[in-house]
Amino acid sequence: MAMKIQIASDLHHEMSQHCHELACPLPLAPGADALVLAGDIHEGTNAIDIYSDYPVPVVYVHGNHEPLNNRYPALISDLEDRAVGTAVRFLQNDQFTFGEIRFLGACMWTDYLQFPLHFNDSLEIARHGMIEHKLVRRSGDGRMFQPEDARMHQRETLLWLREQLDVPFLGKTIVVTHHIPSPRSIPHAHQQHALAPAYASNLELLVERADLWIHGHAHWSCDYRIGKCRVICNPRGRPGRNRKYPELPYENAEFQPALTVDV
Ligand SMILES: [Fe+2]
Ligand SMILES: [Fe+2]
Repeated sequence: MAMKIQIASDLHHEMSQHCHELACPLPLAPGADALVLAGDIHEGTNAIDIYSDYPVPVVYVHGNHEPLNNRYPALISDLEDRAVGTAVRFLQNDQFTFGEIRFLGACMWTDYLQFPLHFNDSLEIARHGMIEHKLVRRSGDGRMFQPEDARMHQRETLLWLREQLDVPFLGKTIVVTHHIPSPRSIPHAHQQHALAPAYASNLELLVERADLWIHGHAHWSCDYRIGKCRVICNPRGRPGRNRKYPELPYENAEFQPALTVDV
């Protein structure tokens, strides 16, 4: 039986204190059986508190904003502990089977390899340009979380993901990540942006093995196919940042609060 899956990301509740509507949990879409939140929902473990009593399961991966002002990867255990007994299924290299659907989830991070000839430049530009490398400390030695750390975490995730995709599954497979699995999710005008490698990796061979891949991190919408796999991003973006539509209280004018797909 088909399930209706509601999709959103980058709600950035942590920036929404001034706006009651944006600080509240995203309303459940009519008929939705589960809500997927693909990261950048709130800092620390706060997203779990906001969605703890949600009426349907909330499949949640953390983004690069959850660890800000925290220790990483220690935050992962905090998120896992906090989610116990709530509606939230927090996934970091972990899966959740729901009826005939398996969700495979992880933040995923990135490999900074989108421009292979400029790999070292990409690392340095991300080191100085991405907030997670300024406001996140590593759990062990307390040093700043660096692009090299993000790469290591991505390697772990991809190893796990390949193993999972090798396991036969009769139902549908939905992969949920915060980071972007294909440069196709980046609009043409931004594809050569120096920070693009901090957003997207080229994982198309992996993508086409899933039925649906939901990601966040971009603050623009996309919906396209790689092989049989549909790739969807439905981010709300930061509050109060839409210059083109000043009446809109958030960044992405294409955000659909009640977007669902039948799987
Ligand atoms: Fe975001
Ligand atoms: Fe992000």
